[in-house]
Amino acid sequence: MLASLPLALGLLLSILSGALGAPRPDVTAGQSIKMYKRSPRRNATEMGQWAKSHREMLMSKYGGSSSRKRSSGTNLITNQNDDSSYFGSIALGTPPVSYNVILDTGSSDLWVAGSDCLTGCNSVPTFNSAQSSSFTNESKAFSIQYGTGEAAGTLAKDTVQMAGFSVPNQVFAVCDEVSSGLLNSPVSGLMGLAWNTIASSGATPFWQTLAASNALDSPVMGFQLTRFMDDPNAETLEPGGAFNLGFVNQSLYTGSIDFQNIPSNQESWWILPMTSMTVQGNSVTLPTGTESYSAIDTGTTLIGGPSSAISAIFAQIPGSAPGTGNFEGYFTYPCDTQVNVSISFGGPLWSISPADFKLTQVSNSQCVGAFFEMTTGSSAPAWIVGDTFLKNVYSVFRYNPPSVGFAALSSTATAENDVNGAVPTPTIGSVVAVSATSTGSNRTSNAASPARSLSVLTAVVLASVFLGVSLL
Ligand SMILES: *[C@@H]1O[C@H](CO)[C@@H](O)[C@H](O)[C@H]1NC(C)=O
Ligand SMILES: *[C@@H]1O[C@H](CO)[C@@H](O)[C@H](O)[C@H]1NC(C)=O
Ligand SMILES: *[C@@H]1O[C@H](CO)[C@@H](O)[C@H](O)[C@H]1NC(C)=O
Ligand SMILES: *[C@@H]1O[C@H](CO)[C@@H](O)[C@H](O)[C@H]1NC(C)=O
Ligand SMILES: *[C@@H]1O[C@H](CO)[C@@H](O)[C@H](O)[C@H]1NC(C)=O
Repeated sequence: MLASLPLALGLLLSILSGALGAPRPDVTAGQSIKMYKRSPRRNATEMGQWAKSHREMLMSKYGGSSSRKRSSGTNLITNQNDDSSYFGSIALGTPPVSYNVILDTGSSDLWVAGSDCLTGCNSVPTFNSAQSSSFTNESKAFSIQYGTGEAAGTLAKDTVQMAGFSVPNQVFAVCDEVSSGLLNSPVSGLMGLAWNTIASSGATPFWQTLAASNALDSPVMGFQLTRFMDDPNAETLEPGGAFNLGFVNQSLYTGSIDFQNIPSNQESWWILPMTSMTVQGNSVTLPTGTESYSAIDTGTTLIGGPSSAISAIFAQIPGSAPGTGNFEGYFTYPCDTQVNVSISFGGPLWSISPADFKLTQVSNSQCVGAFFEMTTGSSAPAWIVGDTFLKNVYSVFRYNPPSVGFAALSSTATAENDVNGAVPTPTIGSVVAVSATSTGSNRTSNAASPARSLSVLTAVVLASVFLGVSLL
């Protein structure tokens, strides 16, 4: 999902330098020395024992363990409503309680619906801060606007766990007003996985705290996203693939990962310039310069871009026409055309499956394509490249050097498409967490509805975000 913060790019350097001073466990040298003050009478054996215990003590204080420091992990993803969204699970608080959150590389805030939620949280499991002994209320107003709606509440701090990692005092928002349709049960919130410069809260995101403090084996996040939109038997929830934190899973791709650096000083969204595109093998003329900037966004379903480029794509497809009514900004095309769009971000051309291009059928012969026309604000990228593309590659978001990489999916990964199965249970590593339960009534149907997916998930409206306004 795309959210915007005015001046975000300009604030980059000052805020980033703050991020590098990310929280570390509070252990002072003085404490350690005092505890293990050296006795002059120690012999070599005793020194050996001291050295071993000193190391173990420090490692356990820093959250590691003497035998093995946890430094990578996997969170299994769920695919919701025929590829409309992909969510994983986190645990919040003490004792930890797990919540499902959209994994969104297109924004940078973590928020969950709170138990005082007034609107938009019907039948959604909510966070009850009174039940967490580690919760701190920051009492600052929070609001964020996405293309698909808004969430508002107050900022707080608590322990957040995911994929075996734990960050104490992570800033997040407890929301009590959520736009209708933004949360579909069993999803309780959203975890932003872009850079701190566009965080409405101003806080360093969970992933970035881990990367900046060298807690990850490798400073990367990898995504494999499954496809179910071409499966008539798909259920509302299906296995969605994997989110790898701190490593890349070599079983999920073949060949090498082609990394492209994000433009210098543009650590905000995960931006790559879109350098070339072919449709049915023919080149399409694309805008250049900043008009080529694309947010690589797991939290957006489709692909939005400048209208000249979208028209040029459909000009390569005989029988296509601009959509009307609810499909304004989209194009229709003959359903029997297998459309092959391939995109390069400076490296290889990556092809989008015709199945992902075909969003929905609207008449006996006509289908709607997954690319739509979009105008973004001046500080936001001109393109938003969402799951329509990302289902076709293993994607890697790298902290340092700041870059995005793509690799071809392995047959192991593609074999997971369209395989109906049980959705993953919350995985937060070795820590036990119970799932929050819904306080509401039975959930209403949230079966895949193309019309709804379109209206809710794709119109991109960028709006200001208001920060730090105290409620008191
Ligand atoms: C070291 O001191 C311990 C007693 O504190 C003794 O049992 C041991 O034999 C000594 N080792 C050596 C190598 O002197
Ligand atoms: C945090 O405090 C504010 C008042 O400053 C209150 O309105 C809000 O409900 C509190 N949030 C939580 C989750 O306790
Ligand atoms: C890597 O992916 C394969 C295929 O999905 C899976 O079986 C395996 O458990 C994954 N490994 C890790 C460490 O996540
Ligand atoms: C799709 O287009 C690309 C680029 O022209 C080409 O390499 C690829 O083979 C095409 N795929 C299919 C299935 O035709
Ligand atoms: C949910 O629906 C079922 C069947 O329609 C009903 O038996 C049950 O009482 C409902 N639960 C709630 C909390 O409304």
